[in-house]
Amino acid sequence: MEDPGLYARHGAKVFETAGAFLDELWPRLSWPDPPLPALDVGCGTGEVSRQVIAARLPRGVRLIATDVSPAMLKHAEKHSALPGVIQYDVYDAASRHLEQTRAWEHAPYGKIFTVYSMHWIPDNRRAILNMYKLLASGGEAVFVMMATSPFLAHDIVGKDPRWSKYMQDVELFLSPYHYSKDPTADFLQLLLDAGFEVVYRISEPRSIDYDTKEDCKGILTSVNPFLNRIPAHEKEDFMNAVWEANLKQKSITIRRDEDTGKTKFSYNFPCILCVARKP
Ligand SMILES: C[S@@+](CC[C@H](N)C(=O)[O-])C[C@H]1O[C@@H](n2cnc3c(N)ncnc32)[C@H](O)[C@@H]1O
Repeated sequence: MEDPGLYARHGAKVFETAGAFLDELWPRLSWPDPPLPALDVGCGTGEVSRQVIAARLPRGVRLIATDVSPAMLKHAEKHSALPGVIQYDVYDAASRHLEQTRAWEHAPYGKIFTVYSMHWIPDNRRAILNMYKLLASGGEAVFVMMATSPFLAHDIVGKDPRWSKYMQDVELFLSPYHYSKDPTADFLQLLLDAGFEVVYRISEPRSIDYDTKEDCKGILTSVNPFLNRIPAHEKEDFMNAVWEANLKQKSITIRRDEDTGKTKFSYNFPCILCVARKP
């Protein structure tokens, strides 16, 4: 995630979809008394923390919204503050020193939310083990995630000699399940290995629909980790290559909405929605 401002500017549909996905999972959650705090892992710009997660939490539940990126947290504190409910804090979800992190200070949690962040964390095993330790017994982890990372389109763009030199370390930015034969099975196995019970899961293709090419391309641009390595005069060509590659592999499709007659730009991805409980 390179540009919090750009992500927030073009993110309305991402945030809306996150809400719809969480609404699918919400009936599976239980809220024992007294309410424990909730943790948001990879909160990014904070819009989802405030507009989506905090808006759905029972009254009195505090949300500790965390991210590894200080730039994201700065943006979130400025634009998505909710005093008395949300506290923003730095936390590396794959930390090997959990007990020394800011997230640990507020544990145990009743809920942990991860929205579109697991596919950015190469060491999902460690992240899941940490979640297990951070939760109270009976606590639940809620996952909204992309199983793979089609938006980088690196299988096409990374093979072009003009761009490949900037993308040598692509595996640091790919979903850990990107080349898996069965991403869902691998992810669920990590949950079971950590001690979780899988309460509910859906694994199927989903889409985020954008009304304009500008918004759809804006999101692709804001999350592209290679763009800041590309010389300024080549950035536009690079993002055009990423856009065209997404069209070619059909992770972006363009269609006419039959009801409104308007053009829709859909970002298509393999989605995993899951609730896991610590016994
Ligand atoms: C696509 S954003 C999602 C932000 C927000 N949850 C949303 O749905 O808009 C992914 C976020 O995960 C964060 N992230 C990546 N690796 C992380 C890690 N190891 N620990 C915590 N956050 C991480 C990134 O900094 C980024 O802000």
